[in-house]
Amino acid sequence: METRVSSADEAVLAEASRLLAEGQLVAFPTETVYGLGANALNAQAVLNIFAAKGRPADNPLIVHIWNREQLAGICEVPEIAEKLMDAFWPGPLTMLMPRKSTIPDAVTAGLSTVAVRMPSHPVAAALLKQCNLPIAAPSANRSGKPSPTTAAHVLEDMQGIIPLIIDGGSCDVGVESTVLDICNGTPCILRPGGVTKNMLEKVVGEVKVAGSVLRPLQAGEKALSPGMRYKHYSPDGQVTLVEGEEQQVVAALVKLYQHASAAGHRTSVMCFTEHMEALKDCHPHDIGSRDKPEEVAHCLFDTLRRMDEEKMEAIFSEVVPPEGMGLAVMNRLGRAAAFRSVQADQVLTE
Ligand code: TXA
Ligand code: MG
Repeated sequence: METRVSSADEAVLAEASRLLAEGQLVAFPTETVYGLGANALNAQAVLNIFAAKGRPADNPLIVHIWNREQLAGICEVPEIAEKLMDAFWPGPLTMLMPRKSTIPDAVTAGLSTVAVRMPSHPVAAALLKQCNLPIAAPSANRSGKPSPTTAAHVLEDMQGIIPLIIDGGSCDVGVESTVLDICNGTPCILRPGGVTKNMLEKVVGEVKVAGSVLRPLQAGEKALSPGMRYKHYSPDGQVTLVEGEEQQVVAALVKLYQHASAAGHRTSVMCFTEHMEALKDCHPHDIGSRDKPEEVAHCLFDTLRRMDEEKMEAIFSEVVPPEGMGLAVMNRLGRAAAFRSVQADQVLTE
């Protein structure tokens, strides 16, 4: 199959809409990451998403809508959802709501809830409006790889597999939406994203964060969000997070880089803009400013993909405090590193 990459104009949106109505797959930009869409009411089309991504069948999908009236055909709407929709839709908030039987099992992996979100990206909104179907869309990467934040990333993973990628430039937020469970008492963040805990709490009071957000699932622990079970966001090389006081981290990165390079590994560091100069001999990649986790979120997945392009084998990365958007960043970075981390002061005394 030939895969076409086209900027969004009227003709392309009409074509995409026709493909979706026929049960085919279309990749499209959202404000978070690119999605791989199919008609959520067509079970076969939804199964094609799992095949294209190589995604385990027990990992449910998010349904995308452009208009709240569509909810009636998808789910029950708990009272608390109204407030959250008023505050955060359209935008990077996904809510789990009790599903209706119109939604095929393939979408929800047989769960009793369905994840729904209304994206704010103008291209996503225009496409959803034009086809007027609920669209199931996971991130448009091969399962396990970093999510795509440009059309070129989608092409890397989906060339020859899907007919159309709509190019809407680079995604603003850069990490996926916040997944919030509102069906079990106190709302609980299963996956942190563009809408932060603090933002949610201003609207609905107390919000919990699932324990597995910043650590691996423990033996016997049930995944609240099946996606958390899988290896995720990983480049082919081994990522190690370096924690500690700022100047010690910089010194430790130099030492770790020199050590790994001397051992013959293709090595790189992921560091803040402020440390690029100090680390200029360590094949540095800029992940944004130290004080702006939004910048780190925006370029994180692109940086991880470039590590594969450059065939890096050993990657050492700085970390951000797990607060605000930093929580979403550390949730992804932790998984990219398979939770492997070292303390800078220990590295320096070894
Ligand atoms: O920003 C985003 O959310 C992007 C764009 C394309 O909208 N989509 C996205 O989809 O990230 P995906 O499939 O890569 O991630 C969906 C996450 C998975 O971790 C999945 O397990 C969880 O949401 N999820 C979906 N339905 C669920 C449900 N009913 N219960 C618990 N977790 C659910
Ligand atoms: Mg994904």
